[in-house]
Amino acid sequence: MKLSSKALIATALITTSAFSFAQTFKGTNYQSPYCGCCKEWVKHMEDNGFELDVVYQENMTPTKIDLGIRPKYASCHTAEIEGYSFEGHVPAEDILRFIESKPKRMIGLAVAGMPMGSPGMEYSDQKDPYEVLAFDENGRTMVWSRHNQ
Ligand code: CU
Ligand code: CU
Repeated sequence: MKLSSKALIATALITTSAFSFAQTFKGTNYQSPYCGCCKEWVKHMEDNGFELDVVYQENMTPTKIDLGIRPKYASCHTAEIEGYSFEGHVPAEDILRFIESKPKRMIGLAVAGMPMGSPGMEYSDQKDPYEVLAFDENGRTMVWSRHNQ
């Protein structure tokens, strides 16, 4: 009994460390120095195990063009993680699932605009429905997930 519970603890420890290692993705978030919701989103990402460097930019347009963000699915901040682009208030769980699926054609995820109730856009109890779009180099999109439907 004593032996087997020790073995169980050892297994749990190994599993936990392997799990947290797999979850630590590092990247950069480009954001305006004047915007609070971007900071809230970075907090949301860090609470979910991501490590993001923050780069403040007054003019985000060149970064957005570089990272493949089209005006039709643009938002405030733009992140680059594991070579993929993430635009706006995308939930960490979607980003994790996207990175782990190692997409070949799609280059990132976007939440267009600033929907209330998305991560970093919590305001009282307001929860607007929104879609997370996956997009490719040519700006073609598909729905990746739906929230607050
Ligand atoms: Cu925002
Ligand atoms: Cu913002």
